[in-house]
Amino acid sequence: MGANGYLVTELIGAGLNRREARWLVEEFMPEDHESIAALRRAALRRLNGEPLQYIIGHWPFRQLDLDVDERVLIPRPESEELVGLALAELDSDAHPAPVILDMGCGSGAIGLSLLMELAQLNIAATLICVDVSQDALAVARSNAHKHGLDNISFVASSWFDALDRSLRGTIDLIVANPPYVSATEFETLDPVLRHEPLGALVAEDSALAAGFSDVETIIRQSAPWLSPRGLLICEHGNMQRDATLQAAHEAQFTHVVDLDDLFGNPRFLVARR
Ligand SMILES: C[S@@+](CC[C@H](N)C(=O)[O-])C[C@H]1O[C@@H](n2cnc3c(N)ncnc32)[C@H](O)[C@@H]1O
Repeated sequence: MGANGYLVTELIGAGLNRREARWLVEEFMPEDHESIAALRRAALRRLNGEPLQYIIGHWPFRQLDLDVDERVLIPRPESEELVGLALAELDSDAHPAPVILDMGCGSGAIGLSLLMELAQLNIAATLICVDVSQDALAVARSNAHKHGLDNISFVASSWFDALDRSLRGTIDLIVANPPYVSATEFETLDPVLRHEPLGALVAEDSALAAGFSDVETIIRQSAPWLSPRGLLICEHGNMQRDATLQAAHEAQFTHVVDLDDLFGNPRFLVARR
């Protein structure tokens, strides 16, 4: 067994699972006393319950390697699916140079992926990243810089409140992964989630469903901001399909569907103006 093999065994012995032990060793590439000490400190943080993603400070999302820390939600695989859905649904004949709004951008995962992957299809999109958290916007800005992506504006706003009114009717695609966990459900979830920003996960209840107020605001307010045939694609919680469809049917959309994620859970509203 090489030196790294012994370190993996040591970390497993300390209580880490094999996958995470290997991940940490590969990440720290321990060669000397200093890097081995850093690896052991990282393992201790993990054993104390911190998410691996914050400890190593970055995480893959589709083609991006996003920097992540306690200021932003750790991007989830469902949101990678949302990007795929948006690429498939975006009508590039109707919108050859789409304007995209990433509502609640966090690390920038969804919007930055779209910008990068559309560029690979020779589609030059413009991206507006909105978040109520200045911390999240700073992380998204730095991730854009890290990946050499431009043509992006970053706007501090509670959903549509502070958006420039001249954008009404001009946005071709709104993508959103808003908070959708109710305060009651949050109490029952894995404590590791407590390391992520509460405001990225937990939303107030609405009359339609628990934890639904942010999803509902986005659904009810999106249509006037969309261009003709513009699209809203929004993630929501497992228990929120009925509420999502009701809110979308009550808003001004011509075509509404709600799709499952790869695990078979109700997850994505696709609504066309
Ligand atoms: C579930 S996280 C999603 C982050 C990122 N889009 C992703 O998928 O990884 C929700 C994001 O919405 C932001 N947010 C929460 N309330 C908001 C509000 N009222 N207006 C704008 N953004 C908000 C949070 O700061 C957080 O970054």
